[in-house]
Amino acid sequence: MELQITATSPEHPASLLDLPWNVPLEEWPEEHLVALDRGISRHVVRFARAGGEIVAVKEVGEWAAVREYGLLRDLDRLAVPAVDALAVVTGRTDEHGEPLEPALITRHLAGSQPYRSMFQTTMRPSTIRRLLDALAVLLVRLHLAGFAWGDCSLSNTLFRRDAGAYAAYLVDAETGQIQPRLTSGQREYDVEVARVNIAGELMDLEASGSLHPSVDPVLFGQAIVERYCDLWHELTRQSVYPLAQRHAIDQRVRRLNDLGFDVAEMQIERSPDGDNVTFLPKVVDAGHHQRQLLRLTGLDAEENQARSLLNDLETWMATQDDYAPGDPLGARPEVLAHRWVRDVFRPTVRAVPKELRGATDTAQIYYELLEHRWLLSERTGRDVGLDATVEDYIRTVLTHRPNG
Ligand SMILES: Nc1ncnc2c1ncn2[C@@H]1O[C@H](COP(=O)(O)OP(=O)(O)O)[C@@H](O)[C@H]1O
Ligand SMILES: [Mg+2]
Repeated sequence: MELQITATSPEHPASLLDLPWNVPLEEWPEEHLVALDRGISRHVVRFARAGGEIVAVKEVGEWAAVREYGLLRDLDRLAVPAVDALAVVTGRTDEHGEPLEPALITRHLAGSQPYRSMFQTTMRPSTIRRLLDALAVLLVRLHLAGFAWGDCSLSNTLFRRDAGAYAAYLVDAETGQIQPRLTSGQREYDVEVARVNIAGELMDLEASGSLHPSVDPVLFGQAIVERYCDLWHELTRQSVYPLAQRHAIDQRVRRLNDLGFDVAEMQIERSPDGDNVTFLPKVVDAGHHQRQLLRLTGLDAEENQARSLLNDLETWMATQDDYAPGDPLGARPEVLAHRWVRDVFRPTVRAVPKELRGATDTAQIYYELLEHRWLLSERTGRDVGLDATVEDYIRTVLTHRPNG
């Protein structure tokens, strides 16, 4: 048998080859390992250094490794928060030529913690609620994407702090399956598994004395069901609004924002008689715009800036001759985005003299210009364009701003 590393990205196999694949994972020498907190698992899991990265290595049968690898890649494609699968290693043998178990390699999720580490200092009930909220959001997102988890639990989730809230990531996809659409029976089953698992995990914490005395494991397990149902309803409800009541749509968007969802685009259809609109929100999780902008343009901006810049980019894209979304002959979004950075974003920012920009970064300047354009356009009742905006912004705003 020959060692084989199957990976989608070419830069990883090289650095992964340096790991001691001829030694059982439990016996790997310290020099390769990274001591970070891990959750409870059935398989042997270790964190190791590979190239400049920290990877999680899990020893698991070949069939399961390949399957989980594929599922994690699918989740990535569906933009659901989960750990990144990097490779599957097969054909391992020890120094005597005896076969060793294959391994699934994922990228260590930076800044994440397993729930047991988070509970080491007793968590306040309100914090536990936020943690469970994040898990409910993850479960809804998985279900919207057609993923039935089969084993939703705190142990199979990683949590990352996200500006006062928590973001949950799927770490263990072994029991999952993807299909175009889940039945309500499949969703109910998943939620029931989550309820039972979470109640059990909280009871374990209670037994070891690390649960706040006022937290009832059973009630908190039940809370995930309620939270899930509220979210699912709010997200999938298609409603018809009288055209005259556009603010009803705004209210719904705000409610979704309050639930922690960001509405990226909305499917709004006018009825044939033109009196009603049908509204189905399309939601994304926090940080969506930031990631999207970074991927398309390389610009690293805050979420609100990114949302505004992406809006501008998308509107501009639609004016391009080779813009044809979904058509393989059309320009790829990355290509159009590159053109936008070169022909629109950079020239516009450069039109603002450097000494006036001060320490303000380019994304923020462009964002302010977009806001200013909106103000001017509202005032004059037509789109004033970027050139006029820059001129007016320099004259009426920037020259009066203390430099910094
Ligand atoms: N990519 C990763 N980043 C951070 N932690 C990870 C990663 N992969 C695994 N872990 C840790 O290892 C634990 C066990 O992984 P898991 O895939 O659930 O194994 P098992 O299939 O044996 O249950 C997780 O709870 C998590 O704490
Ligand atoms: Mg697990």
